Amino acid sequence: MKLIRTVAELQAILVQKREKNKSIGFVPTMGALHQGHIELVKRAIAENDISVVSIFVNPTQFNDQNDLLKYPRTLDADCKLLQEIATDIVFSPDENEIYPEPDIRQFNFGLLETVMEGRFRPGHFNGVAQVVSRLFDIVKPDKAYFGEKDFQQLAIIRELVSRLKRNVQIVSCPIVREKDGLAMSSRNIRLNENQRKEAVLIFKTLSDSKTLRKEYTVQALKQWVTSQINAVSGLQVEYFDIVDGFTLQSIKEWSNTEYPVGCIAVYAGKVRLIDNIVYCTL
Ligand code: PAF
Repeated sequence: MKLIRTVAELQAILVQKREKNKSIGFVPTMGALHQGHIELVKRAIAENDISVVSIFVNPTQFNDQNDLLKYPRTLDADCKLLQEIATDIVFSPDENEIYPEPDIRQFNFGLLETVMEGRFRPGHFNGVAQVVSRLFDIVKPDKAYFGEKDFQQLAIIRELVSRLKRNVQIVSCPIVREKDGLAMSSRNIRLNENQRKEAVLIFKTLSDSKTLRKEYTVQALKQWVTSQINAVSGLQVEYFDIVDGFTLQSIKEWSNTEYPVGCIAVYAGKVRLIDNIVYCTL
């Protein structure tokens, strides 16, 4: 495994690989790797000749400076994990490499970005689009791997790729969960013991809501999920919405879509957790 810090060095290596017709699988991350990331990387390794993992905590996607400061940075441990699974290249640039000049591009993803994460984290997806398009320009991957936990991010990235006409296949991978159901997230290590226990209720409630879905209207199920979680004093739902999985717009009736997905953001103290559940797989 090679740890590379500069764009020039990375591109010099990748040009040679491409000349030999080697396919490149790319997993962009912000580090603090957990099993969810590792599953993405394993898939990139299995499906491509060369695997590249980027580790870059992208400042432009944080609307909350405190969140950016507190974001865990664990490069040594990350590299160890990536080495164990035989990743080819880890790209861990500093900010000047990614943004030699401030990125002033403004993306407009229309209705896809005005809801849920986009509504509560203004500017977040613009920052994600800036860094992902920049990383795609640098790495020029054949396939790029993203987790379904960030359901809205996945939709935005698919839209970005289609608008910029980039020749990269976006591969989505299922949410990886702890044994008790909590969706794996780099933020989980910031939960104290009690918050960690309480956070289990998020997935439990989403799972139970899948069973109730047949008896409840969309509105009633939304209320039920929100009240179940808010009943725990340490948890506060920021939003729970049931949306069409393609357009991400709220549905009013189950019959509005064949692909209903429940998306949630919950604060456990100051730690913000997201999760989602697909009510009906196509
Ligand atoms: O999902 C993430 O970790 C980040 O949003 C990404 C895609 C690596 C861009 O910084």
